[in-house]
Amino acid sequence: MLPKRRRARVGTPGPDSSAARFPGVAIYLAEPHMGRSRRAFLTRLALSKGFRVLDAYSSEVTHVVMEQTSAEEAVCWQESRVVPPQSGCARPALLDISWFTESMAAGQPVPVEGRHRLQVAVPRKGLPSLVWMPPYACQRPTPLTHHNTSLSEALEMLAEAAGFDGSEGRVLAFSRAASMLKAFPGPVTALSQLQGLPHFGEHSCRVVQELLDRGECVEVERVRLSARYRSMKLFTGIFGVGVRTADRWYREGLRTLDDVRGQVQRLTQQQKAGLRHHADLSTPVQRPDAEALQQVVEAAVEQALPGATVTLAGGFRRGKLQGHDVDFLITHPEEGQEVGLLSRVMHSLKEQGLVLYHQHWLPQGQEPARPARRSRTTDTLERCFCILRLPSSLGVAVGGALGPCRPWKAVRVDLVVAPISQFPFALLGWTGSKHFERELRRFSRKERGLWLNSEGLYDPEQETFVHLAAEEDIFRHLGLTYLPPQLRNA
Ligand code: CTP
Ligand code: MN
Ligand code: MN
Repeated sequence: MLPKRRRARVGTPGPDSSAARFPGVAIYLAEPHMGRSRRAFLTRLALSKGFRVLDAYSSEVTHVVMEQTSAEEAVCWQESRVVPPQSGCARPALLDISWFTESMAAGQPVPVEGRHRLQVAVPRKGLPSLVWMPPYACQRPTPLTHHNTSLSEALEMLAEAAGFDGSEGRVLAFSRAASMLKAFPGPVTALSQLQGLPHFGEHSCRVVQELLDRGECVEVERVRLSARYRSMKLFTGIFGVGVRTADRWYREGLRTLDDVRGQVQRLTQQQKAGLRHHADLSTPVQRPDAEALQQVVEAAVEQALPGATVTLAGGFRRGKLQGHDVDFLITHPEEGQEVGLLSRVMHSLKEQGLVLYHQHWLPQGQEPARPARRSRTTDTLERCFCILRLPSSLGVAVGGALGPCRPWKAVRVDLVVAPISQFPFALLGWTGSKHFERELRRFSRKERGLWLNSEGLYDPEQETFVHLAAEEDIFRHLGLTYLPPQLRNA
C-alpha cells in the first residue's frame, strides 16, 4: 500500500504497484540526444517517484519526453515509430524535458501545457518543406528501389574506391551519404533539399551538385576509368581476394586476370577456385537459381538432421532479384542438435557431386564466447563458404562463358549454422545490407551501450547476454521500429 499522504494526493488508490500510481501516464524517454546514462538516471528518478516508465516505445506510451530535440525532428521520430494502433488510443504527447522536470518536482504528472509541447512550426507557403531523416540507417526504412539511383551509385563508387585505398573514414562518409539518398522520400533535384541532413559533408555535396548540374561528375568518371580502380575492382571480384591482396598485386604491376593466372603458384586454394570459376561467379545469381539451390540445400539438411531448417538470408531475403552469392542460415529447434550438422550436409552435397570448392569454419570452442570477445566485429558462427555446381537439370537457364549448352554453372553459396538461441541474431546479421548491419551495430553500441553481432547482444554493464527470440524483439529491445528485410537495403 502507498503511504496515506500520497494516496490522498493521487486520489484513487488503485493496485499497490507503483505502475498504477498515476494511471493513464506511461512515459517514454526518447533518446536521440539524451544519451544512455542520462536516460538511465531520469528513468530511476521517475520510477522512484512512482511514475511508470516504459523501456520500449509502444501504443501504451502516453507521454514522450525528449531533450535537445527540434519539433521537426520529434515529429519525424514519432512517424518513424509506427506502432499498432490500439482502439481509442490517442497519439502520445511529444514533450520537452520541462514537463518531466516539473512533474518530478511536483511528485506527480503536471498538466500538459502548450509550452511543454514540441510543436512543428507551420511551413511557410512557397518554400520547399525540409525533410528530416534520422542519422542511423537502422532508424529509417530503405527500400530496394528508390528515387536517387544515379546519385547513390556515384557516391557508392567513391566509397568503394576509398575502400581500395584503405581510407575507412571516407568509406563511411560516402556510404552514409549514399544511404541517405536511398532513403530520401523523393527525387533530389536541388542540393538545398539536403540542407540540414546529417552525413552530407562538403565532398559529397560537391559530387551531388555536379551530378545535378551536368549529369556527370568529373571526379567520379576519373576514378571509374582509372587503372587503379579497374584493377582493384577486378581483383577483389575474385573469390578469396581481399583489398590487401589486390593492392599488393596492383603495386607489383599486375593489372589483368591473365597477369594473376601467371602467378598461380602464389595463389591460395580458394583463389585458384575463384579464378577457375571466374566467368560463372562474375555472372549474377538469379532468384530462380537461389530457389533451386534452396531446395538442394534443404534436402541435404533434412537428410543430415530431420527437423533442421534452412532460411534464405542475404540480399535475396531483402527482395533483390540477383546477387553475387546465395546465403543460407541453418538451425534446429532444439539447442545443441545443430552440432556436427554442417559436416554432414557438406558430405551429402559432395556425394551428389555438387561441391566445386568449400572452406569450412568451425566455431571457436563450444562454450559461450567470453565477453572480451564481444568487442570483435567479426563473429564466430560455424560456416562454409562454397562454390556449388548448379545443374541445369534443376530447371535453371545456364548461360555463362561456355554458352547455353553447358549442363551446369558454378554458384557461390554461404552456409551458416546457428544454435536456435542465436538464430535471431544470426538472421539479422546475415540479412544485411552490409551498411545496414554496420549502422545497427554502431547504433547499439553508441546509443544503447549494447554490443551486437551475429551471435548475440551483449550488455557490458550487466555482463550478460540479452536473450531474445525473434528479429522483432531485437529491434524492440533497441528501441527501434521493426524494419522488415525489404526495408533494410541501406
Ligand atoms: N556477412 C557477415 N560475415 C561475413 C560475410 C557476410 O556477417 N563474413 C554478412 C554481411 O554483413 C551481410 C550478409 O552477411 O549483411 C550478406 O553478405 P553478402 O552475401 O556479402 O551480401 P548480400 O547483401 O547478400 O549481397 P549479394 O546479393 O551481392 O550477395
Ligand atoms: Mn549474398
Ligand atoms: Mn554471402
